Amino acid sequence: MRTDTGQIVHLADYRPTDFVLERVDLTFELDPTNTKVESRLIFHRREGVDASVPLVLDGDELTLSGLLLDQREVPASQYDETGESLTVRDLPAETPFELTITTFINPEANTQLMGLYRTNGIYCTQCEAEGFRRISYFPDRPDVLAPYTITIIGDKAANPVMLSNGNFLGGAGYDEGRAFAAWFDPHPKPSYLFALVAGDLGVVEDTFETMSGNEVTLKIYVEHGKEARAAYAMDALKRSMKWDEERFGREYDLNIFQIVAVSDFNMGAMENKGLNVFNDKYVLADPETATDQDYANIEAIIAHEYFHNWTGNRITCRDWFQLCLKEGLTVYRDHEFSADMRSRAVKRIAEVRHLKSEQFPDDAGPLAHPVRPTKYREINNFYTTTVYEKGSEVTRMIATLLGADHFKSGMDLYFERHDGQAVTVEDFVKCFEDATGRDLTQFSLWYHQAGTPLVTASGSYDQTNATFTLSLEQMIPATPAQPNKEPMHIPLSFALISDTGSIAAPAEVKGGEVTGDVLHLTTRNQIFTFSGISSRPVLSLNRSFSAPINLHFDQAPADLAHIARHDTDLFARWQALTDLAIGNLTQAARDVREGKAVTCDPVLTSALLEAAGDETLEPAFRAQALTLPSEADIARELGSNNDPDAIHAARQAVLTAIAKAGEETFLHLIGEMAISGPYLPDAASAGKRSLRNIALSYLTYAEETPARLAAAFADADNMTDMAQALTLLAHRFPDKAETSDALATFQARFDNNALVIDKWFSIQAMIPGAGALARIKALMDHPRFVANNPNRVRSLIGAFAFSNPTGFNRPDGEAYRFLAEQILAIDPKNPQLAARILTSMRSWRSLEPQRADHAHAALMTIERAPGLSADVRDIVERMLK
Ligand code: PHE
Ligand code: ZN
Repeated sequence: MRTDTGQIVHLADYRPTDFVLERVDLTFELDPTNTKVESRLIFHRREGVDASVPLVLDGDELTLSGLLLDQREVPASQYDETGESLTVRDLPAETPFELTITTFINPEANTQLMGLYRTNGIYCTQCEAEGFRRISYFPDRPDVLAPYTITIIGDKAANPVMLSNGNFLGGAGYDEGRAFAAWFDPHPKPSYLFALVAGDLGVVEDTFETMSGNEVTLKIYVEHGKEARAAYAMDALKRSMKWDEERFGREYDLNIFQIVAVSDFNMGAMENKGLNVFNDKYVLADPETATDQDYANIEAIIAHEYFHNWTGNRITCRDWFQLCLKEGLTVYRDHEFSADMRSRAVKRIAEVRHLKSEQFPDDAGPLAHPVRPTKYREINNFYTTTVYEKGSEVTRMIATLLGADHFKSGMDLYFERHDGQAVTVEDFVKCFEDATGRDLTQFSLWYHQAGTPLVTASGSYDQTNATFTLSLEQMIPATPAQPNKEPMHIPLSFALISDTGSIAAPAEVKGGEVTGDVLHLTTRNQIFTFSGISSRPVLSLNRSFSAPINLHFDQAPADLAHIARHDTDLFARWQALTDLAIGNLTQAARDVREGKAVTCDPVLTSALLEAAGDETLEPAFRAQALTLPSEADIARELGSNNDPDAIHAARQAVLTAIAKAGEETFLHLIGEMAISGPYLPDAASAGKRSLRNIALSYLTYAEETPARLAAAFADADNMTDMAQALTLLAHRFPDKAETSDALATFQARFDNNALVIDKWFSIQAMIPGAGALARIKALMDHPRFVANNPNRVRSLIGAFAFSNPTGFNRPDGEAYRFLAEQILAIDPKNPQLAARILTSMRSWRSLEPQRADHAHAALMTIERAPGLSADVRDIVERMLK
């Protein structure tokens, strides 16, 4: 493990390498505990670099056993090895030279899952961001690109499959007991995209014909016996390949594309060139064991990793500060893909829910950082929702500002100009400027200024002059190291809705640039005047969430209900309902704290029930409309001095009021949305199930016994319905026999399926209330709890800390102390996992003082512990600052 050295990397210090890497030739002799890696690297000195300058390579936990320069042993006096680097001096000034480095590594002992490791008997690599240096000494940075030739030698019986990047060159018996396989990747790539997989795996095969007629072999490797569960992933892959050709003109560029599913993985998946490695959670699915959400995730992540082939691999990042260049853009691409595959409005709602619940708290707390940061201590900690999701929103805004055609020209120019290069965010933005002539200087602040902008809006109607005036003010909150902000360029989609519900077209708009239905807010204060408006309009603003902002617009409940009923933008309708609900819920939370009775505004209830019963709307949308803001959403809206118990009680009370008022509607929906026939994972069927299940959940709020849920659990013929019934049973009736019976039945039935057992742990981890901690501790002693499997740890400890606000934030602080212990136990084994789970405490300062004190003390315990990883030290110190 890399313990912290306190070293900070600054963007301003970037400079190109002194040596240019021309070719990489790696030979692996696989052994579970002692793998030999021979690396032959051809370098030449970059022009203008002094002959006295040495070559410095990165390393981490390597055992060096040989070093040759042009086939001759390098004397000890000519090189230095520290734990983290290998420096070689007196290298040729003019001619290319070959360095041959032999290292030994121990895959079995690699619990941090970076570099070459073992998972269920399979050899597997993870190199992004800085994992390659755990395989061999190397210039391990993304701007060093070279073609790779790979030879893998391994025990024949144990490794019938031996894979690497690129095209297969050949393979055969190597000696008595061993076989070899050779691969060549002609596309120059950085080391973070290297991959190797070896072992005994099953495979599913298919083919894809590209737009220029090349046939590509597609292979998905899974553990034996799981082949049937890879069918949906394969289908999603083929659809992704086709979509990227049609939408972005991007064609695949090797004769084979492979995906491997493994069960121990720190993240979701990895886009290694031609050989994606996936957390098996995002590959394996069948109707009996996967939910609709699982299917949607698989589709999105398969697409995401495939799309990286162009946005990330063919064009990569110059340095890790540019991470959003590949991630933000690729998330945008996968969002667009899913929107085309499913319902665009429903997809947008899901994206915005996710952005607000995950990224907004990041941007409002001690971990806030710009989409394009300028310094980091541990790059692993920058794989954040800010880089990914806000990065995607920034790309989306470029498309909104320029319009679809101009956006396309900019993207085309980007692919043409930078193919084969490692570039920056500035290079990316420049392509849109050059393709369209538009100056994006002010817009670029979105990459550089952290914090969610707050836009305050107020409108007034002047009957006499038939004008509507909109005053806007923008404020970007202070964030770590950025106390003062410049005004940004904020694109706000708008509609003026007349009293009859039609969209009014203004004769003229003054006060700033307007393109189509987008207002360009570019100064701190700005007043737009719309003329030719014959009756008082209701303004719908930031439609489709055209900008990732907090909007304070004091609109009357009746106006919000009007938008919810009439806007032609379905997203805006949902947003209006959410705004109505959040006003009600925050008031309810205050009332609970003051010991007052909670009320539910009939305007809210009737707007929700109207949307729920509106058969002109698709079921998936109606389900979203009925899903109230979460407890975390309410806490964020309240901002400070939060009491999670009061928020929970308030939300329950509002849910119960809606449940009682809507009983008839919900009963009707349960009948109406029932599906007969076999399970299909398509969006329309999933939408029906989601509407039926939300109706079911409301009904249970109005009921005192678990009978209906126990029956729903018993009747469920697919995992979506079964997991939902089990969740409702456990969360609503944790102590009833029906619940323990259902939990036992579920566990027994799916005991051999780790991904379903993860759900079983999560459902229990999220049961609200002060009893949660005891339950978590008991579950950690359960024979199925595997402390070294990231998915299992996330499904129990992660779900508890991130998604159980009342259980985790118990007033006595016991759960914070528990989490601190767990972080310290996980850290030495897997620092990335520990650091990630620790971010669950990022909003501790917004808790009421007693809880905040306990949280602070727990964080201090971590901070004072000896030998912390760089990952955890970075997070804990930033959280305490
Ligand atoms: N680059 C991967 C992705 O987006 C994420 C990842 C980062 C995976 C680091 C592993 C390690 O899609
Ligand atoms: Zn990615």
